[in-house]
Amino acid sequence: MTKYLLISGSPRKGNTDFVLSKVYESLNEKKELIFLRDLNFSHCKGCLTCYSTGACVIKDDMEQLFSSLLSADMIIIGSPLYYGNVSGLMKQFIDRTIPAYESKSLKDKQLLSIMVGGGKVQVTEKFHREAIKGFVKYNRLDLIETYNFEAFEADDLKQDVQSKMQISEIVRKINSCP
Ligand SMILES: Cc1cc2nc3c(=O)[nH]c(=O)nc-3n(C[C@H](O)[C@H](O)[C@H](O)COP(=O)(O)O)c2cc1C
Repeated sequence: MTKYLLISGSPRKGNTDFVLSKVYESLNEKKELIFLRDLNFSHCKGCLTCYSTGACVIKDDMEQLFSSLLSADMIIIGSPLYYGNVSGLMKQFIDRTIPAYESKSLKDKQLLSIMVGGGKVQVTEKFHREAIKGFVKYNRLDLIETYNFEAFEADDLKQDVQSKMQISEIVRKINSCP
């Protein structure tokens, strides 16, 4: 049975949470939805100990999240676009996956990435691909698809009919993956 891990990198209960929660509700199989803002985890210290030991020296909520990452078949990340990049919370999470870089323990896991920006989707999508490029490349993830939404205020997507169709499309895509 496929296991899905959904991770929201928004510091507020807004559009990213809305999309991920709707996707989560529509999935039938084993699933877990994490809101990074609820976790107690610090930024990477850059000590590089994990390069030799394979493990992070920091003992915090990232330990549990790392286990969830290892057992997931598909990882679905969602982030607001902040200054043309993922949110600080999402970047903090991405940096803390560096123990997986040497061990290649996330290699070939499927990744689907969702981003919400206040600007036009055509602009958001360019920043989006750049922002997750390193995460995908260095962890050798299997990037299935990226999806972009336009929304600014926290409730914008809840009232948007087009976003419902896009969320259905995301669920269809996920369910069509082997
Ligand atoms: C610090 C900050 C930086 C932002 N930078 C951008 C940006 O570069 N491009 C953009 O389109 N929207 C930008 N926005 C708008 C957010 O992406 C937008 O409000 C989005 O809906 C937030 O998603 P959320 O509701 O899931 O938190 C920024 C918002 C904040 C708070």
